[in-house]
Amino acid sequence: MITRADCEHRDTEDPLAHARARFRVPESVIYLDGNSLGALPAATPARLADVTEKEWGADLIRSWNAHDWIGLPARIGARIAPLIGAECGEVIAADSTSVNLFKLAAAGLRLNAPRRVILSERGNFPTDLYVLQGLVGMLGGAAELRLVAREDIPSAFDESLALLVLTHIHYKTGALHDMNALTQAAHAAGALVLWDLSHSAGAVELFLDRDRADFAIGCGYKYLNGGPGAPAFLFVAEHLQKQLRQPLSGWMGHAAPFEFGDEYRPAEGIARTLCGTPAVLAMAALAEGVATFDGIAMRDVRNKSKALGDLFLALALSRCAGAGFEIACPRDADQRGSQVALRHAEGYAIIQALIEQGVIGDFRAPDILRFGFAPLYTRYADIWDAVDRLAAITTGARWREERFQIRAAVT
Ligand SMILES: Cc1ncc(COP(=O)(O)O)c(C=O)c1O
Repeated sequence: MITRADCEHRDTEDPLAHARARFRVPESVIYLDGNSLGALPAATPARLADVTEKEWGADLIRSWNAHDWIGLPARIGARIAPLIGAECGEVIAADSTSVNLFKLAAAGLRLNAPRRVILSERGNFPTDLYVLQGLVGMLGGAAELRLVAREDIPSAFDESLALLVLTHIHYKTGALHDMNALTQAAHAAGALVLWDLSHSAGAVELFLDRDRADFAIGCGYKYLNGGPGAPAFLFVAEHLQKQLRQPLSGWMGHAAPFEFGDEYRPAEGIARTLCGTPAVLAMAALAEGVATFDGIAMRDVRNKSKALGDLFLALALSRCAGAGFEIACPRDADQRGSQVALRHAEGYAIIQALIEQGVIGDFRAPDILRFGFAPLYTRYADIWDAVDRLAAITTGARWREERFQIRAAVT
């Protein structure tokens, strides 16, 4: 039987324990939703005040040069690169994940013409599927989207396949794809591969260059702690950059934006993936979020993430037995991202009751309770307390109250 004291002891031995001070996590809350919105880094409010008052307020438009606002996308990209196993010039911060997917999927199709098929997974995150549907619709007969079940992905590779688009860690189940094996298999079939790293960056070790990924995209507001609606990032393997043409060819991706010429000429390197003016305030917050990883080894992050997930599952299995939960994520930590998923027919009401008790997880329709573990600020004792409250809620009847059934706009 695991006790709270065991968990407190693990916290004293945790090599990442010091990183919690880099965040402001309210002590009244057990925050298990860093996979949806990372916690507020302690340095962000002061940084935003400076950018607002000193840079924008006092230095005004001069700040584009004086404070290198114009260089923010590339500078932040260079800081994200080592977290995902890429080189500095392969990553840039820009736009949203959805928009970056559109740009890179279109670019990938174009690079691999005359092949015309994009393959993805049924049940992939909706925006990925919707953006691909939009792209294929726009291209008429020149492209086709095929969706297959997870287990059928490798057998769906054929000579028509231009681009494989997969989310590395599934948003609901936390199941993790083998990036290396799938990328090699797709390449062997002549296809390019685009990985959505939204639930991976800042949570698991990634080796984009070693695994020969072609393209990747990911969120800035989840484990990278960039703040609500933070800019996203994208990756293009160095050897593909010269030939890359993306359709949102705005002036920020031009070789010389301030020449104001009539003809689009792509910038050298990763900058050609940019479109318009960067959101400076949001970029400043993202920079602080990414800086929470300074001096942190992603190997330590991954080890702790697996241990937190294993602890949650072990406690839930023993403390919540008979409460009607089914485990909806891989039990093997090597096959799982930094989240666990429990299935329960009344999952929505249970999560609402849990949130009222100060444990913040989230719900994904129709029946998944999702708990994400951000290793930089989640403690082992938090996991013990969270499951303790979950057990108390499910053995009582309070969660059945009418008010926990009311659906908010965001779940
Ligand atoms: C796998 C995945 N892709 C993309 C997104 C979101 O994209 P956007 O930031 O453009 O809304 C999410 C959000 O949760 C996600 O889980």
